[in-house]
Amino acid sequence: MKLIRLITALTVGFSMLLSGCGNNEKKFKIGVSQCSDDEWRSQMNDEMRREIMFHDDAEIEIRTANDNNAEQIADLKYFTDNDFDLIIVSPREAESITPAVKRAFDKGIPVIVFDRNINGPYYTSYMELDNEGIGRSAAQYARHAIGDKTGNILELRGLDGSTPSIERHKGFNSVIDNEGRLKIVSSVSANWKGDDAYKAADTLLRQHPEVNVIYAHNDVMALGAAKAAKNLGREDIIILGTDAAPALGIQAVADSMIDATFVYPTEGERIIRNAIDILNGKPYRKIDHVPARYAVDSTNAEILLRQNELLNDKTRQIELLNGRNEQITSVNTVQKKFLLAMVIAAFLLVIIAIAMLYFLRQRKKYTKLLSQKNKQLQDDKDQLDTLYIRLQEATNSKLVFFTNVSHDLRTPVSLISEPVRQLAEADYLKPEHATMANVALKNVNILQRLIEQILDFRKLQNGRTELNLQEADIMKLVEEWASSFKTIASRRLINFTVVTDGECRMGLDEHKLERVFFNILSNAFKFTPDGGEINVECLQEDSEAIIKVKDTGIGMTTEEASHVFERFYQVDKVRPKGSGIGLSLSKAFIEMMGGSISVESTPGKGSTFIIRIPIQHVENKLEKSENYNEDFRKEIITELEPVEREIVEHDPDRQLILAIDDNPDVTTLLKEILSDKYNVITANEGKTGIRMARKYVPDLIISDIMMPGIDGLEVCRIIKNEIETSHIPVLMLTACSLDEQRMQSYDSGADSFISKPFTSEMILSRCANLILNRKKVHDLYADPLKAIKEKKTTTVLPASDDRNALESDFYNSFLAIVTNRFAESDLSVADIASHLGIGATQLSRKIKALTNFSPVDIIRNIRLRNARRQLLTSEKSISEIAYDNGFSSPQYFSKCFRDLYGETPTEMRNKK
Ligand code: FRU
Repeated sequence: MKLIRLITALTVGFSMLLSGCGNNEKKFKIGVSQCSDDEWRSQMNDEMRREIMFHDDAEIEIRTANDNNAEQIADLKYFTDNDFDLIIVSPREAESITPAVKRAFDKGIPVIVFDRNINGPYYTSYMELDNEGIGRSAAQYARHAIGDKTGNILELRGLDGSTPSIERHKGFNSVIDNEGRLKIVSSVSANWKGDDAYKAADTLLRQHPEVNVIYAHNDVMALGAAKAAKNLGREDIIILGTDAAPALGIQAVADSMIDATFVYPTEGERIIRNAIDILNGKPYRKIDHVPARYAVDSTNAEILLRQNELLNDKTRQIELLNGRNEQITSVNTVQKKFLLAMVIAAFLLVIIAIAMLYFLRQRKKYTKLLSQKNKQLQDDKDQLDTLYIRLQEATNSKLVFFTNVSHDLRTPVSLISEPVRQLAEADYLKPEHATMANVALKNVNILQRLIEQILDFRKLQNGRTELNLQEADIMKLVEEWASSFKTIASRRLINFTVVTDGECRMGLDEHKLERVFFNILSNAFKFTPDGGEINVECLQEDSEAIIKVKDTGIGMTTEEASHVFERFYQVDKVRPKGSGIGLSLSKAFIEMMGGSISVESTPGKGSTFIIRIPIQHVENKLEKSENYNEDFRKEIITELEPVEREIVEHDPDRQLILAIDDNPDVTTLLKEILSDKYNVITANEGKTGIRMARKYVPDLIISDIMMPGIDGLEVCRIIKNEIETSHIPVLMLTACSLDEQRMQSYDSGADSFISKPFTSEMILSRCANLILNRKKVHDLYADPLKAIKEKKTTTVLPASDDRNALESDFYNSFLAIVTNRFAESDLSVADIASHLGIGATQLSRKIKALTNFSPVDIIRNIRLRNARRQLLTSEKSISEIAYDNGFSSPQYFSKCFRDLYGETPTEMRNKK
């Protein structure tokens, strides 16, 4: 990237250099404003153009106003407003043109005024041509030309408002005044124009025939007058002109049309040099006075014309040279550009070469890196392949192991199964023993079915499972199979619907489809709580039969649902409901029939399993064997049913134990074990368990850890944090003896735990221990009643840990109310309970559980102890003491007193 940026920057730099090379833009722009256009001025313009050729850094633009003030004002404005660096002006009239010149000058543009002046010093430099000198020379020439005669002169002046006209007249007059022989007969303005001069001369020569000299302020007017004189036959008149421009004045003298003309110096080169000095900040003359007094007549006209010609030749040569020079310069510029382009190209080539080298190196580096990475990837892949093969081998050997174990288990399990079945059906058993035998039978059946599934799976894997297709009506089959679940659905208050779509005969492996259907539907029942909803639908769509089983069970996440058919995948490891083999087997069976099985599920809302089987037809070869799956069906249904559900009657002398487990067999078993010694109530999920604990405040809670919905740990946490139930010891049941689960149990506040499988002895001794420990704590609580005597009403119990802190806080609050209000005869348990924010029954149970005394007992004891103290220490009467301590009558007081202390209050007082 850096390299690319560098190359770009260099290229841009070079191209800028290239475009800048040979740029001939002039530094200075000079504007020249001429008031008129004539031979004298074009001579001057040529001189200026010639001179500017020697100054590379300057250029001129000459504008001519054609004797028009407005035009000249416009020209000056143009120069002023278009960034001209210097203005050279010959103003037509002083009065009218001065403001336009002043404007430029005020703007800071240097101004050179020449030939004619303006009114005021608004210029940088003024080239003053010696007009008075010219006037004087003309007068002297006239005097000389007429010899002895008297000179009668007609003067044709220039434009009245222009300074040369005034000054020339002044110079001419100054000589005439001194000379008596010269006399101006008439002096008129002919505005610098030939026509005006012709008209004036024609008129005046007729009026003044004595005129023998005509003095015209320029050659144009002199030629006009000459024409008029000639017309009048007055070729004798001496005609003098001014300017001496070679092409006009000098030529006219050479042609004898006029007699003489006086040089009015053009000085174009001088003006330009002056301008360049000003522009370059060099010294210059503010008033540049140019002397002028030379006459051109027949004696020198020819020579001057010849000189002028030579000069013109030279000028042409210079121009030619200059043209060539420019050509050479432009060729030179092109060459320079070309050279520069070559240098840039060479430079770029070097850069490109470096860049290519750099990129080649980088590529080599990356290729090396890439091949290293590729090699590493290949190694990883090889490693993964090896791992995969090993994994497959391991899985395979595991499966072989399972299969072998299953084979080994099959015989002993079937040997257990039959005796257990016979035992369960025996009519001599006590009901509780019959229940136990039923639990055993049901679980032996499950074990048998699991073994069958593992063997089926292995058979399937080894390709030894055959597909037995028979023509059958799938709708009828689904209805028949589903009907097996109706009883369990109604018992569990599950809204169970079955919808089929007419008749659909097709080739099916009935045996396998039945297993799949039972597996899916029994799962739906396992995961749907009582009162839920399960819908079975069988329909025909195009060339497929579709079975949908929808439940409102616990549902699965998308991740869980995507793995549910994988071999032995268990959706939730914390709440296992089976080995997971059933769904893998179902998938394999459906795929054997060319169909598919899928699931859509939302956690907390339920799942829908969809089975699709393509409709095909076969010829029935075998007679259909009736009900060959009957045992399997029965097992599945019984598995869903709890063995026993009703609660045993309550014996008031026994402690109450609440058993919470989602597996009804476990609760049934616990009940069987514990019922001899305790009252037992059961709950099949955490939520119900918590509700029952609050309602019955049992003496002990046994809870499974892994349960759907609220699990055992959460149940324990809630129970231990509520004042009504916090004192109840909790015994946790866990499927495995993981340390982590033990830790979790204790963290949740559990008092003890037992790992499954458990024996009845373990359960009984653990329950007895926990209840005994609780009793010891009662005594601890009961003892501080002594404190009342010392009038201590707070911190009766030490708080050994957080949980005990909750208990002791509660108990202390209770005691505080009682010790403060025991004198009130209408103090009731309901009163105290509402103060403490719990129900009266809960208060009674809680206090009884904590102290082994009922609240009423405690109130009475406190009253009696206080009364006894008063009896022994005060002079109050017995009746007074009875009423003081909240007893409604002295008689009742005496009765209670004797019950506690074995003597009446009177006897106690007398002993004093
Ligand atoms: C040209 C001209 C000249 C004369 C000069 C005076 O326009 O008339 O003939 O000498 O101007 O400014």
